[in-house]
Amino acid sequence: MLSGKTILVGITGGIAAYKICGLIRMYKRANANVLVVCTPNAMNFVTRLTLQNLSQNEVAVEEFDVKDFKPEHISYADQADIMVIAPATANTISKIAQGICDNLLTSIACAFTKPVIVAPAMNCNMWENPILQENLNKLHYEILEPDSGYLACGYEGKGRLCSIEKIFDKTVELLTYKPLSGKKIVITSGGTIEDIDPVRYISNYSSGKMGLALADTAKNLGAEVTLITTKNVSRKYNVIKVKSALDMKSAVEKEFENSDCIIMAAAVADYRVKEISPQKMKKTSEDEVTLTLVKNPDILKNLCSKKKKSCPPALLPSEPLIVGFCAESENLIENAKEKIRKKGCDFLIANDISRKDIGFSSDYNEVTILDKNGGMKKLERADKMTIAKQIFKEIYG
Ligand code: CTP
Repeated sequence: MLSGKTILVGITGGIAAYKICGLIRMYKRANANVLVVCTPNAMNFVTRLTLQNLSQNEVAVEEFDVKDFKPEHISYADQADIMVIAPATANTISKIAQGICDNLLTSIACAFTKPVIVAPAMNCNMWENPILQENLNKLHYEILEPDSGYLACGYEGKGRLCSIEKIFDKTVELLTYKPLSGKKIVITSGGTIEDIDPVRYISNYSSGKMGLALADTAKNLGAEVTLITTKNVSRKYNVIKVKSALDMKSAVEKEFENSDCIIMAAAVADYRVKEISPQKMKKTSEDEVTLTLVKNPDILKNLCSKKKKSCPPALLPSEPLIVGFCAESENLIENAKEKIRKKGCDFLIANDISRKDIGFSSDYNEVTILDKNGGMKKLERADKMTIAKQIFKEIYG
């Protein structure tokens, strides 16, 4: 199943380290080449000899102890198709999230450009610590959340390493399931920023997380991805940073030319300030000021009419697929139905932004997907990566 694939297993210092021996056996049985890197603390829980025998490869722990012409962290990062960090302690997760490279494992993670699976295991109070959760959210990796149950430290709660079968299945999925390979997918994210003067602007609460989850997922599913975003994003795929709706329009129109699918997850400002003041606007003696706003072009609607114009309706190709998002604070479905009709896109993902537990700036979402033929599918509340996967499943079948 995994022949020709190299899996880099990163083991950190937690009691669940012994379970990784079973995982390495599963990878070997599936014909993978397995490289193992351990943090020095991991060596307190599992021996080098055991790991070497199971993986049939030398085990790396310290930097500068591998014989290669390249620095070893780069050499490992280049050789492996996927990195699996299990068990991942709170310490290692937080160090990687902060870009700290103080041992071989964290240095490899920093240099690694291919998919990474992280399977945390720790005490339940450590798992619930908001700092740990914030650091986990910073990682654009596949996180396999711990299970709940009796913990080695004597506590009862969430913190047990998930099953090694689950880690194995996720590894196989990420290495072999590439339904979007050969497709060029463009995704927009974030709220546009419309300047008023050199120090002030109009924007909205969009965090860009849903668009980013879609872009990361499309990449994992094999697509060639371009993310056009108003946020600072660092990824190994093509990221184009824009600011205003007009900037976003030019970038989108250029990228749309030879794409197979565009997903407009960005919250584009409907209006911009008519004249941006070149100098900081000064306070006057008046109690009220008036800003004149002018309408921004509707990027999504323009794309849909372009697609229609370039091919007569009878010959409409299935691609490029145009997917819009819709943010509503009331009458979600009625407004979404009206919006898909008016804009003319193939799919519309409807979000209820009045709920605090989903949508804007949350890591979770719950959406309804509408298609141009009147079909509708509700996706139950889940983290945004899961929602992203389900969206691609719906639009590509
Ligand atoms: N959109 C766009 N250009 C705009 C405004 C919105 O391309 N000037 C896109 C968004 O990226 C999204 C979809 O249109 O995919 C719907 O955005 P939304 O803000 O929900 O709707 P609006 O068209 O702005 O309508 P309203 O604000 O009246 O709800």
